[in-house]
Parts: sequence; structure tokens; C-alpha cells
Amino acid sequence: MSHSLFLLPGDGIGPEAMAEVVKIIDHMNEALGAGFVTEQGLVGGSAYDAHGAAISEDDMAKAMNADAVLFGAVGGPKWDAVPYDVRPEAGLLRLRKDLELFANLRPAICYPALANASSLKPELVEGLDILIVRELTGGVYFGEPKTITDLGNGQKRAIDTQVYDTYEIERISGVAFELARTRKNRVCSMEKRNVMKSGVLWNQVVTETHKAKFSDVVLDHMLADAGGMQLVRAPKQFDVIVTDNLFGDMLSDVAAMLTGSLGMLPSASLGAPDGKTGKRKALYEPVHGSAPDIAGKGIANPIAMIASFAMCLRYSFNKVEEADRLEKAIANVLDKGIRTGDIMAEGCTQVGTSEMGDAILAEFKALSA
Ligand code: IPM
Ligand code: MG
Repeated sequence: MSHSLFLLPGDGIGPEAMAEVVKIIDHMNEALGAGFVTEQGLVGGSAYDAHGAAISEDDMAKAMNADAVLFGAVGGPKWDAVPYDVRPEAGLLRLRKDLELFANLRPAICYPALANASSLKPELVEGLDILIVRELTGGVYFGEPKTITDLGNGQKRAIDTQVYDTYEIERISGVAFELARTRKNRVCSMEKRNVMKSGVLWNQVVTETHKAKFSDVVLDHMLADAGGMQLVRAPKQFDVIVTDNLFGDMLSDVAAMLTGSLGMLPSASLGAPDGKTGKRKALYEPVHGSAPDIAGKGIANPIAMIASFAMCLRYSFNKVEEADRLEKAIANVLDKGIRTGDIMAEGCTQVGTSEMGDAILAEFKALSA
């Protein structure tokens, strides 16, 4: 049986990080008969340079038809002046929207070896294991109107629209409750119901969904600003956090940094299961961006990208053992004191992107033997 993977390395450190995942895919095909068939496309600035669009129609079609998409990162100062509609980020947003990837899973796990790399005290983050479930196809990212108008008096007016329908809140909270059942069975929902109508509805719908179908799960609500504060005050109080697109963007960067580096955090973006096949459309990407300042130097941390592939094994292909093994391989390499610059600590060995990828692959092979 073959599994199609569409690779979109993108810009900046995206291609370097993706190259390390390709090594693992090749190994899994050769040694484990995994049957992955890969194709590669362009997204972001690299797609703009080639086609004048943030992603071509051809590559969109390939993403639609693939079993899973692996995405690197997009953007960089080179494309600061390109028109808004074709800016690098537009490629990613279109993929999320057109593939209807409404559920963004962002686990923040603090590997024991990295407790000291966090900007928080080690005891606050040691053993941290939280999952942010971010709504990804709605809210202020996509709401209309979204405009800047000239008021004609020397003033301009910018409008973004925060909009949520009941079904969008129901389905994302359903995902959060279901995942909580496989973890510590707790969900904290975050919104700003004290200021925003969308927050009022969010709170109501999450509460109703909980009551109707998931009353076995422990549900809390927090205002998103207080939630951000609690995330840095006592992050281990959380299990699953469910929140909207914009708050989820911000809170997941905060959560990422708790784990030591933005270079550590993977993510999965999932659609609804298909009525016939039960398969979900899916895209896997590191939470970090394209890091243009270090791109091309071979020093980027590929762990978030590799851990994103582990999520792909788990959620798209039900290769749970392989996913566990790959995550274990990452933890073991960190235990051995092998570090990229962003997570470097005293007494450890600093390596570049491809040495880190090789070390994880070697550990993965050893665990598979
Ligand atoms: C993320 C990123 C994106 C977002 C950008 C690149 C559009 O920050 O995935 O968190 O805002 O969603
Ligand atoms: Mg972000």
C-alpha cells in the first residue's frame, strides 16, 4: 500500500529542516517498506519567484489529493514588498482554508533534557505536556470585511472581522474534548467574552457541546489574557487548551517558548474525516517560521519539523509505533547532550542541522532494530 506525501519546504530554513525529514522517509521506505511516495512543490516566496503566486494551482491540486502535506516555513524580508494577496503567508492560509484544515494541534512538550533551556525556572516546565487546539479556518484571519479604506481626510480605516458560527466552535471543541479523553481528560477554553461577542458565543457553544456529548471531561474557561498569564505562571496546570485562530496563534508561540525553543514545536492541521473513507486531509508543519536570519547556514534546529513528521505518522497513517519511536529518538538524542545552537547548554555538543537529523535517524534505526 502506498501513501502519498506532498512536500512543501517553502522558504528560509524550511528546505534545510525538510531535508532531514526526507532522510527519515527514505529510511522508512528502504528498511521498513513504509511505501511513502513523495512529490515536492513550491510555496511562499519561492513559489512567488517561480510563478508570481504564493502557491500555484498545480501545487494546490497536488496538496488536495495527497494523503498528507508536509510544510516547512514561508516568508522573509526578500518578499516584504510583494502585493498583499501574493505574500508568502497567503500560500499557507490558502492551503488551510481550501483543504478545510480547521483543527490545529500544537503540542508543547518539555523534554526532560531541555528543562534548563526554557526561560522559565526548570521546575515550572519539567515534564510539561500540554496540547493547544487552535481553530484554524475561521475568526479574524478570514472574516470579511477585511479592508483598508481611505477616508479622504488624510485618515485611513483598517477593518478586520472576527466571526465565528456555531458549527465552527462545535467541531473544534469536539476535537479538543476527544483528544483530552486520550490524555488527562481536561480542557480549558479561552476567549474574551468580556469584550467580544464572538467570545460570548464561543463560551456558550463550548459549554453546550461539553454538556451534550463530553460531560466526562473536566471543562474550565479562562479569559485569553488571563490564560496567557497562567501559561507563563504555572503552565503545568493545563492539559488541553482550546481557543480561536488568533488567540491560538499567540498562545502557541508562548507555549513553544516554555519548551526551550521555538525550534521544538511541531503541529498538525487536520480536516474533518471523510464521510466514505474516514480519512482526514492533513498538513504538518513546525510552529517556527522561516528564520531568514539563519537560513542557509546549516544551523537551524530540525526537531520541530521531524516531530511534525512523527505527528503525520500518528494522525494520517496510524503508524503509532513508528511515531512513538521517532519521538523517543528525539528525546534520546537530547539526553545524549546533542544540541543545535538554539538549545545549546553548557557541557553539551553543538551540532548543525544535518548532524542533528543524522543523530535522530541513527537513534531511530537503533530503536527499530
Ligand atoms: C503560525 C504562523 C502563521 C499564522 C503565519 C505564518 C501566517 O504564525 O502558523 O502560527 O499566523 O497562523
Ligand atoms: Mg504563529
